[in-house]
Amino acid sequence: MANILIIFSSIGGNTELVTKKVATILESKNHKVAFNRVDNLNPNLIFDYDLTILASPTYNQGTLEDQFKSFISQFRKFSFENKNFAVIGLGDTKYYPEYLTESAGILEKEVTNQKGKLVCSSLRIGTNPLKFLDTLVLKWSEKVSSLV
Ligand SMILES: Cc1cc2nc3c(=O)[nH]c(=O)nc-3n(C[C@H](O)[C@H](O)[C@H](O)COP(=O)(O)O)c2cc1C
Repeated sequence: MANILIIFSSIGGNTELVTKKVATILESKNHKVAFNRVDNLNPNLIFDYDLTILASPTYNQGTLEDQFKSFISQFRKFSFENKNFAVIGLGDTKYYPEYLTESAGILEKEVTNQKGKLVCSSLRIGTNPLKFLDTLVLKWSEKVSSLV
């Protein structure tokens, strides 16, 4: 059993839906999950957990959601050596397909820049996530569960 922190932002609800599903699956595997919206969170919370999952949608030509940007500016003040991370990025081909799910790539870079360890490749969903909850999201969550 691991202590897992999920930090997410979501304007339209898609990322919230996906992270809630991830939380449910991880809990069903007997992990303890803390589920937090990114707003006003202090990144030093991360040190209390075995694994942190960062999840942001992509907005405005391949950038993080605004609240996540503020969080990351604080995140950059820490070294997360030996801390485990996994990343989720949402997007939609309807908007700026050249930046599809770019939030995942940005978060991966931020984690490795601060010496964090990515336990697996990111979960990227570039369309309405509803139909992927019991397939892609389930598989990814089971993989994460097996790695912590
Ligand atoms: C104004 C706007 C800009 C967007 N820009 C991008 C983008 O650059 N790349 C991308 O993959 N998706 C983009 N999207 C799509 C969202 O990331 C996608 O709808 C996502 O599921 C929203 O997540 P949320 O409901 O959790 O906020 C954009 C959506 C809007 C409304």
